[in-house]
Amino acid sequence: SIRETAAREGVKAYLVGGIVRDIILGIKNEDIDIVVEGNGIEFAKSLCETLGGRKVVSHEKFKTAVVVVDDELKIDVATSRVEYYEYPTSLPTVEYGSLREDMFRRDFTINSLALEVDNNRFGDLVDYFNGYRDIRDKKIRILHNLSFIEDPTRIIRAFRFASRYGFDIAEETERLLQDSIENGFLKRVSWPRVKTELKIILGDRRPHRALEYLEKYGILKTIHPKISYSSRMKSQIEKTADSKKLLDTLGLEKWMVNFLVVLENLNSDELDLVFNKFGFSGSFRKKYHLGSTKRKKILEELSIARKNSRIYDILKEVTNEIIVLLYLEGNRELKENIEKYVYTLRDAECMVGGRDLIEMGEAPGDHFKDILKDVFYFQLDNPGSGREELLEILEE
Ligand code: CTP
Repeated sequence: SIRETAAREGVKAYLVGGIVRDIILGIKNEDIDIVVEGNGIEFAKSLCETLGGRKVVSHEKFKTAVVVVDDELKIDVATSRVEYYEYPTSLPTVEYGSLREDMFRRDFTINSLALEVDNNRFGDLVDYFNGYRDIRDKKIRILHNLSFIEDPTRIIRAFRFASRYGFDIAEETERLLQDSIENGFLKRVSWPRVKTELKIILGDRRPHRALEYLEKYGILKTIHPKISYSSRMKSQIEKTADSKKLLDTLGLEKWMVNFLVVLENLNSDELDLVFNKFGFSGSFRKKYHLGSTKRKKILEELSIARKNSRIYDILKEVTNEIIVLLYLEGNRELKENIEKYVYTLRDAECMVGGRDLIEMGEAPGDHFKDILKDVFYFQLDNPGSGREELLEILEE
């Protein structure tokens, strides 16, 4: 469709950035970025029609557009050939070869590849800066010496790509990166941008080398002086990766759980500081913070709990976030108990209710709660029991 649209609009179109890198690496990537030499917005509208997409959101000023095909698929379209008037009266001057400029503005050589997708040379790789070679040699390399100064977020991005793909940072690039850190350039990066990058790192399958780099260059300490990357953190984060089913059932995101792991040594005031920096709401902290004494107690109790009702009783007031953190930390017995709670006990409902008590002639009152709780716990401990049996117990 991109190819047809390009032909119809008479323009050249390229797939660019991360998706080209990942095609070469054979990795799935669903973020489609297109650069058009010509009118990108017209192209986007035309592409949207061809695809039967929902809408186009365009920015005239930047000549960019997003084709919203459906909830899953969004295609970014940018314009690389800029026509401008040097004087109000002169003819438009067209900047040729600006795909090269567009690519040159990017962070690393591995992200500077373009794949032609119009009719002329469909499938041709446009590689101005040896990106293909660096993918092959597993190197993260900037395109020019000012790259980190232009955009210090790239320092963290270098760690993230190195970690994710198992690449090395090229020597000269790492030297410039270190200089930029020593000169304090990272301080210019806003916390929301740090958060965006950290979120990707902590959600990635292989975040460890990135975290090692962040530790090595003192970046974790800038989040909070008490944070340092430990072997304990490493093993917890590995466990998060293996706990997908539990996380999904509890509706928690992997990056968030890993973030909580990274922050584990902070007390509640320190956590507030960090969460403020990253723009989380005040009520958020309450969801995952547990004093260390209480935590120890739960860990102990839960690892020896045998009865379903006991497991239920220990965990019923505990938030999902804390349940996962306990899970990552616990021994086998504790893990099994948590799994039992999350997959079955948590959603259990008592098969008898207040109405049954009233029908038995009991006058409604506060004592109902205690009675029903006893029956419910009996139900949890005797999974085979039916409603009849419970009614008999209620009678007694
Ligand atoms: N980019 C850049 N400098 C930045 C951020 C982004 O040059 N600080 C460029 C890169 O060339 C990148 C493209 O913008 O390929 C898209 O950015 P992003 O979506 O963040 O990165 P991806 O490479 O697509 O990585 P991911 O697979 O993690 O989405």
